[in-house]
Amino acid sequence: MQRAGTRSAAPPLCGTLMTPMLSLDDVALFRHFPGLRSGLPWVRLGYWPTPVEPIFGLPGARVPVYVKRDDRSSPRYGGNKVRTLESILGRAIEFGAERVWATGAYGSNHATATVMHAGAADLDAGVALFPQLPSSPARANLSAILAARVPVETMRSVVELPWVMARLHRQEPGDFVMPPGAASPRGALGAVSAGLELAEQIAGGECPAPARIVLAVGSTCTTAGLLVGLHLAGALGIGFGRTAPVPRVTAVRVTPWPVTSRLRIAHLARRTAQYTARLTGVQLPSLARLYATLTVDRRYLGSGYGRTTAAGWRAIHAFKRSHGPPLDVVYSAKSGAALLDFARSSRRGPLLFWATKSSAPLPQAGDPELAAAPQPLRDWLLGPGYLDFTSSAAGSAATSAFPL
Ligand SMILES: Cc1ncc(COP(=O)(O)O)c(C=O)c1O
Repeated sequence: MQRAGTRSAAPPLCGTLMTPMLSLDDVALFRHFPGLRSGLPWVRLGYWPTPVEPIFGLPGARVPVYVKRDDRSSPRYGGNKVRTLESILGRAIEFGAERVWATGAYGSNHATATVMHAGAADLDAGVALFPQLPSSPARANLSAILAARVPVETMRSVVELPWVMARLHRQEPGDFVMPPGAASPRGALGAVSAGLELAEQIAGGECPAPARIVLAVGSTCTTAGLLVGLHLAGALGIGFGRTAPVPRVTAVRVTPWPVTSRLRIAHLARRTAQYTARLTGVQLPSLARLYATLTVDRRYLGSGYGRTTAAGWRAIHAFKRSHGPPLDVVYSAKSGAALLDFARSSRRGPLLFWATKSSAPLPQAGDPELAAAPQPLRDWLLGPGYLDFTSSAAGSAATSAFPL
């Protein structure tokens, strides 16, 4: 199939990937609202429910800590973005798209997940990427993207993004172009279902209701959806609401203000709540009540997106020693660092860490794919060791570059 969006000489491989039969019955949203099955296109990609399990031996922890293992959401490529894609690819199909474009940083997990999963929806993938500081997980993602031989657009800076998105729309009006992280009410529906899924696990006795959930916030999609899903469960009396309060969500910034401002999260949460209420017919609490259960924590960002922090490295090692999920320096190490501090200082537990980074192995680009890659990507991927501006949560500078 020839399209204007196809810029690489090699054919896209993603259409050849196979996904085993997965059922809508595994999606909490459809279990509770079976009427949605006929009217809400959805692409099954993940293995739900993801386990929720205790983690023992985190240094200084005074309260029990549990982990929601979204890192295992798919053996092809897991993490929180599998949930996002289940709902947003449904929208792409509804739109009649043949190709879906992901936009994000060079090492974006959302872009990686898109190229790994689009084929399951019989969609071709394309990516439009802007630079970020190199790191091992980001490089592994870009290598996997190149290995999939999808069309790649490069930008010199994130500021070009609106123009590039508009151009992609213009060039091929039938292509579906996602904003970074697919942060839209439809994209957030996957995380709404995740909130219901956790509530079911609590109601089923798999774990106690957490006082606080800690997760990384980048595009705001997952946080906004989860917030709505938890309150939807509360309104239905599943897991919390009657028996326990709806947990506080602490969103740990991995991208700076204003991308992750409370206002932006609240804006998407409000639109997602309205959309969810329309779909389900359930009256959700006011935005003020949703807002009251959200904390945005900026203390673990360090000096910016993709820049490692000493606290993040400590979290990586602490989780490893405790046999927890693997963390990555860009996202989950920062939320992991926050979790460790809360575990040490909280009087009220339990805490629940939402493991958002995939732990599945990725394919890597070979010489032919690297040779065909745009020059800036090749330089970034093969360039010298990354400049690692490590900074502690307190802001003190130190340098270390552990390979991950
Ligand atoms: C590993 C990981 N954790 C957390 C996030 C944050 O999710 P969101 O962009 O939905 O805020 C992302 C976003 O890409 C991610 O890749």
